[in-house]
Amino acid sequence: MDLGLKDAAVCVQGGTKGMGRAAAECFAADGARVVVLAREQAGIDETVARLTELGSPDAWGARIDLLDPPTIDAAFEQIRLRWSEINTLVNAAGPGGARSTWDGIPDAEYHRAFDLGAMSAVRCTRAALPLLRTAAWARVVNVSAHSTKRQSETLAAYTAAKAAMTSVSKNMSLVLAKEEILVNTVSPGSFASASFKAAMRALPAERGLNPDNLYDCMRWIAEDYGHPAHMPRAGDPKEIGAVIAFVGSRRNSYMTGANVNVDGGSDFC
Ligand SMILES: NC(=O)c1ccc[n+]([C@@H]2O[C@H](COP(=O)([O-])OP(=O)(O)OC[C@H]3O[C@@H](n4cnc5c(N)ncnc54)[C@H](OP(=O)(O)O)[C@@H]3O)[C@@H](O)[C@H]2O)c1
Repeated sequence: MDLGLKDAAVCVQGGTKGMGRAAAECFAADGARVVVLAREQAGIDETVARLTELGSPDAWGARIDLLDPPTIDAAFEQIRLRWSEINTLVNAAGPGGARSTWDGIPDAEYHRAFDLGAMSAVRCTRAALPLLRTAAWARVVNVSAHSTKRQSETLAAYTAAKAAMTSVSKNMSLVLAKEEILVNTVSPGSFASASFKAAMRALPAERGLNPDNLYDCMRWIAEDYGHPAHMPRAGDPKEIGAVIAFVGSRRNSYMTGANVNVDGGSDFC
């Protein structure tokens, strides 16, 4: 299916690893211009090389720390100077947030989780808005989490922040629908991304869990977080990249304010 992305101007924050990276690759393979925003230059360079190889006519990156708002404004100024428009903004960075029960998390950690989990999408979308308005068509995709629908004892701050993101995403869609700027949320289940695998690698060896085995990944999530899915394995980031690309494409012309689950069925367990 042609997603209508040829030469589209696409910005993916958190686009160098995991699900954001998988989405960036789909946009590039469909012929879009793609800018990825992240903290580490090495990840940006490697991603840009791959996006170019996949066929993006203008792949590039900018360093940004979503916990440092002036760097957000600086990155969108660079995009304005280079493209003067954005067709698609994907807010995918994360995850972040201390793991503890709700009463054991200090205020500063709650604020950090909200800054990365919700305010990053608010700040990036606000900075992108003049460029989204300039474009002939525009979409925003906010990557939230399935854990907003089912609690886990030690994910209180993260989950609350993602619930806030889902809510503000709905509000954005209400306000921007009048201008045909379509805003949707995509809620992943458990995906074997960079940070996910790093957390698994820190587990004691005697647990016998291999981060490269998607069935082991789901076993970890079920045992430690109580989030099993109908499908007995975690997802590969590539399996959500294509969904994000469709939701953020011109081909999606009448879906806005939706919250799309990509979770192997965990919403119904
Ligand atoms: N993996 C899961 O199972 C899962 C489940 C539900 C929801 N999610 C959500 O899905 C999204 C993608 O997660 P993922 O697991 O695919 O992530 P990931 O593989 O860890 O990649 C995270 C991306 O965000 C960037 N990033 C992180 N902190 C940043 C910051 N402060 N400023 C700028 N960029 C930053 C990283 O680049 P740098 O490190 O170079 O900055 C990287 O490009 C996140 O919003 C996460 O909360 C994940």
